[in-house]
Amino acid sequence: MMKSGMGFLPPMGWNSWNTFTWDINEDLVKNIADIIAEKGYKDVGYEYIVIDDCWSLRERDAHGCLVADPAKFPSGMKALADYIHSKGLKFGMYSCAGTHTCAGFPGSFEHEFSDAAQLAEWEVDYLKYDYCFKPRNMDGELLYRRMSLALKNCGRDILFSACNWGADGVHDWIRSSGAHMYRSTGDIQDNWGSIKNIAISQIEKSAYTGNYCHNDMDMLVVGMFGGSNNDFIGKIGGCTHTEYKTHFSLWCLMGSPLMIGCDLRKADEETEKILKNPRLIEINQDAEARGCYRVKPEPQWFQTNEVFILVKVLQNGELAVGFFNLSDDRREISLQFWDLGISYASGRKLSFYDCWEDKDFGTYQERLAVTVDAHDCLILRGKLV
Ligand code: GLA
Repeated sequence: MMKSGMGFLPPMGWNSWNTFTWDINEDLVKNIADIIAEKGYKDVGYEYIVIDDCWSLRERDAHGCLVADPAKFPSGMKALADYIHSKGLKFGMYSCAGTHTCAGFPGSFEHEFSDAAQLAEWEVDYLKYDYCFKPRNMDGELLYRRMSLALKNCGRDILFSACNWGADGVHDWIRSSGAHMYRSTGDIQDNWGSIKNIAISQIEKSAYTGNYCHNDMDMLVVGMFGGSNNDFIGKIGGCTHTEYKTHFSLWCLMGSPLMIGCDLRKADEETEKILKNPRLIEINQDAEARGCYRVKPEPQWFQTNEVFILVKVLQNGELAVGFFNLSDDRREISLQFWDLGISYASGRKLSFYDCWEDKDFGTYQERLAVTVDAHDCLILRGKLV
């Protein structure tokens, strides 16, 4: 895996929000860091441990500084950063472009440069930056530019994770603001409908993702099984293993950052297999970080936006090809190789490898038709031969 510079590839890690929301503390975060470091997650690329909203006191101190809640983080943020760094991992925190965070804690509006300095002092490596309580008529683009500049000048490498939920045409201006990733949708929920809607809503935005500024389709719900303490996220709670596998596959092919959101202390074997699939992660972490294109399956009369093929061109000339059936019925999905730029006259074939089954899938010329169960997918890596 070639990495070059902060944010070059889609960031990977864990974030506290999906499962724990306000109920966070330093023991939990350390526990998760231990699991990431010791149970093979770090080996496949997960590195950022991110504390989301609800970590601070309700008020800044007399000097205008943010204060970590001593009941939740009695040792303080620098000590927690040291612990996470000692595991060879990186530490992420959260603030907001508005006056308050979404949960009503102090935001960084008009405190951008001093808060960035504070984060650098704590040795933070990543900042998620939300969009609640933005004063009306304040320009959001300007606020992301501000914090980006503050971070780039705070004396420490801090990855900037913008989170304005896809508002204000963010994909048009976020890359030039300096952010390394940007949330492109509203909050994910731990249910199939939410996964499906997010994925479909971003297919046409594929051209905007790329090295140093990745389309963040929100934290993963893989392995949550309805386990959030937040009613909104957990609503109609939980998915099947198949649905989580499809969710992970979509996020991998579409180049989204991979931030785990489940309680890793309770992850079952199947969840671990999904989150640590090295072949899927390799596709997500391909050095060129190209967005994928969609092929609508033939025949023409069979058009639904819930059944499609996503193709990601990889650095070495191979193709990641995902057959996705987000519909509620089993479907045959056929791919004509001319849609990939392979003419019959070229005589070239595609030799496929099945990234979930971890085995050869055979060599095909001109076309491949597969049958995919409802909510399932087939992810192949194709090599021209
Ligand atoms: C917003 C964000 C979420 C999370 C919460 C915290 O809703 O989109 O990802 O950070 O705020 O309050």
